[in-house]
Amino acid sequence: MSKEMIMVLDFGGQYNQLIARRVRDLGVYAEVYPSSIGVEKIREIGPKGIIFTGGPQSVYKEESQHIDPSVFSLGIPIFGFCYGAQLIAYELGGEVKTAPVSEYGKTPVRVDNSSVIFSDVQETTVTWMSHTDYIAKVPEGFRVTAHTENCPVAGMEDVSRGIYAVQFHPEVSHTAEGSKMFRHFLYDVCKCAGDWKMDTFVEDQIRSIREKVGNGRVLLALSGGVDSSVAATLMSKAIGRQLTCVFVDHGLMRKNEGDEVEAVFGPKGQYDLNFIRVNAGPEYFAELEGVTDPEQKRKIIGEKFIRVFEREAKKIGAVDFLCQGTIYPDVVESGLGKGATIKSHHNVGGLPKNVEFKEIIEPLRMLFKDEVRQVGLKLGLPDYLVFRQPFPGPGLGVRIVGEVTPEKVRILQDADAIYREEIAKAGLDRKINQYFAALTNMRTVGVMGDFRTYDYACVLRAVETDDFMTAEASDIPFAVLEKVMNRIVDEVKGINRVFYDLTSKPPGTIEFE
Ligand code: XMP
Repeated sequence: MSKEMIMVLDFGGQYNQLIARRVRDLGVYAEVYPSSIGVEKIREIGPKGIIFTGGPQSVYKEESQHIDPSVFSLGIPIFGFCYGAQLIAYELGGEVKTAPVSEYGKTPVRVDNSSVIFSDVQETTVTWMSHTDYIAKVPEGFRVTAHTENCPVAGMEDVSRGIYAVQFHPEVSHTAEGSKMFRHFLYDVCKCAGDWKMDTFVEDQIRSIREKVGNGRVLLALSGGVDSSVAATLMSKAIGRQLTCVFVDHGLMRKNEGDEVEAVFGPKGQYDLNFIRVNAGPEYFAELEGVTDPEQKRKIIGEKFIRVFEREAKKIGAVDFLCQGTIYPDVVESGLGKGATIKSHHNVGGLPKNVEFKEIIEPLRMLFKDEVRQVGLKLGLPDYLVFRQPFPGPGLGVRIVGEVTPEKVRILQDADAIYREEIAKAGLDRKINQYFAALTNMRTVGVMGDFRTYDYACVLRAVETDDFMTAEASDIPFAVLEKVMNRIVDEVKGINRVFYDLTSKPPGTIEFE
C-alpha cells in the first residue's frame, strides 16, 4: 500500500468520493474519513495533507459538523472547499455570513497568481460555485487569494500554517483549472512523492494476499461482472489453485455471456485457479414459473443464488476465506470508517449463511471502479470484461416484464445482442453508460409477408448518467435506432414491434423491474 496518504474529511458534501478520485488520479493515495474522526486518530494515521469537503450546512449552526481546532496545529497542510473553507474561517476567528442570494453554477473567479495554489492558473478562471454562506472576513494570519463579483473571499491562505481554502469546488469538472490547484496542493504544499500507481498496487496486493492467506483455501462467487472478475484474477495471481471460483450461471445472463466467462476463467482460460460452473438455469426457471410480481422474482433469484452457491461450497468443504469483490464506493457508502462492513449486495441477496469460512477477504476494497478496471487490464483480462457495462444481479429476470420463461429469455438475448452490436458499430458504446433491450409483456398484431403475427414488443433502453441515481435517455441517432429495429424484427422470432424508452430517472428507473 502507498506510504503517503491524503485524508479527505467528509462534511457531508456530495463530492467526497470525487475528491479522493481526483487526488488518486494525480498519483497520490487518498481515503475518505468521517469528519468526526478526532484529532488523535488523524495524528496516528499521519496523512501528508487533509482536505475538508463541502457540506450542506451552515457553520454557525450548533448542530452542524464542526472540527476540533487543534487539527490546525498538527503541522499537516489543510485545503478546505466550500463548507470546508467556511469552517476554517469560522473556527479560526474569521466571519461567515449568509448572502441574500446564492451563488450557483459556473462562476468566473479572479485569482492572485502569487498564491502557490493558483501559480499557473489564468488570472480569471471559471469555477463551480454552490453556496449561500460566504466568508465575510478572513481569520488573523490569512490573506485573500481569490474573489468573484459577489464573493469577497473565494480563496484564502495562511502559508505559515499551511492552510488553504477555496469557496468553489475544484473537484468538479466545471472548474476549468481544478486539477492544477489539486496538483499544487499535493506536490508543492504537501510535498507528496506521487507513489500511487496501479503497478505497485498489484505487486503489493499480491504480496499481502500471500501473507494473509498462507496455505489457506479461498472461495469466490464469480458473477462475470467487472469487480468479481478482477478480484478473481488478482487472487489467482497471488495464490493460484488455493482459489476456487464458483460461477452460478442462472440462465438469465446476456447472450453467450456464460460461455465468455468460462472461456476466460475455465480450464481453457489463462488463469490458474479452480473453476466450477453451475448451470442452474433449469432450476431457476422451475422456481420462476408463473411468478409475475417483480419483487418476488428478485427475491427468488437472489435466494436461489445463495442456495446454489451453498450447495457447491458444501462439496468443497470448509474454506479459510470467502473473497468478495467489494470496491471503495461500497465501503464508503455502507458506513464511513466503520471498518469491515460486509457487503450485503442486492446483487446476490446477502451472504451465504451455510458456508464455512473464517474470514472475508476483499482485495479491491480500497479501489475506485476505474482503478479496478486498470488492475483488470494489467492482469490481462479482455477488454469486453473490463469495460462491461453494469448488469444487475438478477440479470434478464428484471428485464422481462411478467413471467420469465426460457423462450422469453432466448428472445430477449437475441434482441439485446443485436442492439449491443449496432451500438458498438455506431461507436456509441462508451458514450452511453448503460443500454439494453427489455421484453414487455405485451403482444400485438403485425404482418410479416402475407401472414398475421401476434408477437411481443421489445423496448430499447439507453441512458446517460454519472452516478446511476439520476439518468437521461440517450439521444441515439434515429438511423441507428431504425437499423436496430429492422434487424430485430427480421432476425428475432417472437418480436414484431420495437419501442425506444424516452423516460428519464426519476421518474423511471434504469431497469424495468
Ligand atoms: P435502477 O433500475 O434502480 O438501476 O435505476 C440503477 C443501477 O443499478 C443496477 N441495478 C442492479 N444491480 N442488482 C445489481 O447488482 C440489482 O438487483 C440491480 N437492480 C438495478 C442497474 O442495472 C443500474 O445500473
